[in-house]
Amino acid sequence: MHLKGKKVLKAAITAVGGYTPETILSNHKLETMVDTSDEWIQSRTGIKERRILLDNNKATSYLAIEAAKDLLKKKNTNVNTIDLVIVATITPDLHVAATAPYVASSIGARNAFAYDLNAACSGFLYGMSVAAAYVSSGRYKKVLLIGADKMSSIVDYTDRTTCIIFGDGGGAVLFEPSLNENGWEDEYFRSDGSDRMSLKIKAGGSLHPTSKDTLDKGWHNIHQDGKTVFRYAVSEMSNVTKEIMKRNELDNESIDYLVPHQANKRIVDATTQRLDLNPSKVMMNIEYYGNTTAATLPLLLKDYENKLKTGDKLVFAAFGGGFTWGAAYLTWAY
Ligand code: UT7
Repeated sequence: MHLKGKKVLKAAITAVGGYTPETILSNHKLETMVDTSDEWIQSRTGIKERRILLDNNKATSYLAIEAAKDLLKKKNTNVNTIDLVIVATITPDLHVAATAPYVASSIGARNAFAYDLNAACSGFLYGMSVAAAYVSSGRYKKVLLIGADKMSSIVDYTDRTTCIIFGDGGGAVLFEPSLNENGWEDEYFRSDGSDRMSLKIKAGGSLHPTSKDTLDKGWHNIHQDGKTVFRYAVSEMSNVTKEIMKRNELDNESIDYLVPHQANKRIVDATTQRLDLNPSKVMMNIEYYGNTTAATLPLLLKDYENKLKTGDKLVFAAFGGGFTWGAAYLTWAY
């Protein structure tokens, strides 16, 4: 394949980093805040605790910067050679003024340009496609992709249907031209906006600008019709994963890891069953972090990095607000 005379390179993930805040919000603590129980939360979601960035002066950029610093600590790379920083998030520091330029400046990536990407829980998945495309076209050599969300900033802690699910965190990966045959292989992405009101923050945008009325109605917090989201997520995550496996001739034996968005353990379990996968091949950490939105996939990579071997076949899958969803296939490069 050629693009404007340039040979298309394979783009690989060459480093991973992550950060979760120290403060733990346990199910037992939530029992004192809303009408719920540890038993209900664990059996319905698989979550035991989540991390919360309590400091009001620290925003999503803090999570992103810490995740990037963790990556840079491990990876021997000159920060001045980073070409692009993308932050996937639905909780930017500010509505206007993207978070990514601030993150890039804060980590000293002076030669990078930077922007945010919003595709909710699929943000990091879509971001990987963007980062891989820039690198494989030969246009840029080093793309730092960060998924970070301070979900606690948009959660209503009196709403038991959402406050039990979400947590704060950030994760980062570096995309570079692959030095071996491994890297980004394939993707299959979908979206459907007809059900956008099933998972949304209703006000504060151009449809319902902030007013006393929107504040009084609580329209600035995240709300979801959990059942609808759950139903879509279960069927669509397995549909796209089946498709990506089929067209890359992968089966439940040859795949090394499913890397699924961590929204609800029951959604992941249903996907695992539909694909007839051995649960030991499914990355999971929802127990400790809850749903960190754009950060779930890179935080999984961080937690499983030590287990990964060169050439391992990873299939990513995510589903989120919009609706947005998809699956991708990547072979691990280090
Ligand atoms: O990343 C993408 C974003 N989000 C998701 O993917 C989330 C998808 N949805 C879900 O994970 C699940 O729908 C929830 C975890 C949100 C809810 O679980 P569910 O099994 O779908 O519960 P439900 O909404 O069917 O509610 C069952 C009952 C209801 O009571 P009644 O009407 O049967 O009396 C709820 O009021 O459970 C009640 N309930 C709770 N009870 C204790 C809802 N939330 C709670 C709670 N504690 N926190």
